[in-house]
Amino acid sequence: MREVHVVRHPLVQHKLTLMRQVERSTQGFRRLLNEIGMLLAYEVTRDLPLENVEIETPLTPMKSPLLAGKKLVFAPILRAGMGFVDGMLDLVPSARVAHIGLYRDPKTLQAVEYYFKAPPDVAERLVIVLDPMLATANSAVAAIDRLKERGCHDLRLVCLLAAPEGIERFHGAHPEVPIWTAAIDSHLNEHGYIVPGLGDAGDRMFGTR
Ligand code: PRP
Ligand code: URA
Repeated sequence: MREVHVVRHPLVQHKLTLMRQVERSTQGFRRLLNEIGMLLAYEVTRDLPLENVEIETPLTPMKSPLLAGKKLVFAPILRAGMGFVDGMLDLVPSARVAHIGLYRDPKTLQAVEYYFKAPPDVAERLVIVLDPMLATANSAVAAIDRLKERGCHDLRLVCLLAAPEGIERFHGAHPEVPIWTAAIDSHLNEHGYIVPGLGDAGDRMFGTR
């Protein structure tokens, strides 16, 4: 309950620092998010169950482990969550993808849904929700609420940066959903931005404003 894993791998920390820098280009920001996505995928899948299967090497039969159970689902929260997807699929190519379209109303900071598409049997799979920013957590809470409505019960959240307020609110709503993040920053400002943070992740990824 209320598990938070801070991924302190030096490559993740190095790349995160490059992403925070205001002078980082759109192209550089996107590439780094993709690379960190791959490294976070490694961490969040560390404990996936394995089953021994009979195989034949060129020399002899043997029992060897393969991932057990149904393929997992990556569930990016649009838009910025898409930045993790390619890197994660490079590592887990057979994963399914559910898209959760949410935007944060700039005045109320409430999450507004505009799209949802998931595999029909999503409830039977491990679902890993992806969003670089856990700020107020309104978006992440809404995404998990939506997945639970569809019957999902095996859920994880991967982000890049989390605010302490966001972690508190997220685990207030969904205490059993573990979080993986590369860093926990200081606080939220009056506009709901993470400080020191990296700015607006979606805008920096896509060159919008
Ligand atoms: C950003 C970010 C998260 C959300 C985090 O999305 O990508 O989804 O804000 O904030 P919260 O924890 O306070 O909900 P935004 O609404 O700006 O949409 P975008 O990804 O399309 O830019
Ligand atoms: N969404 C972002 O993209 N950045 C923040 O700091 C907060 C929410």
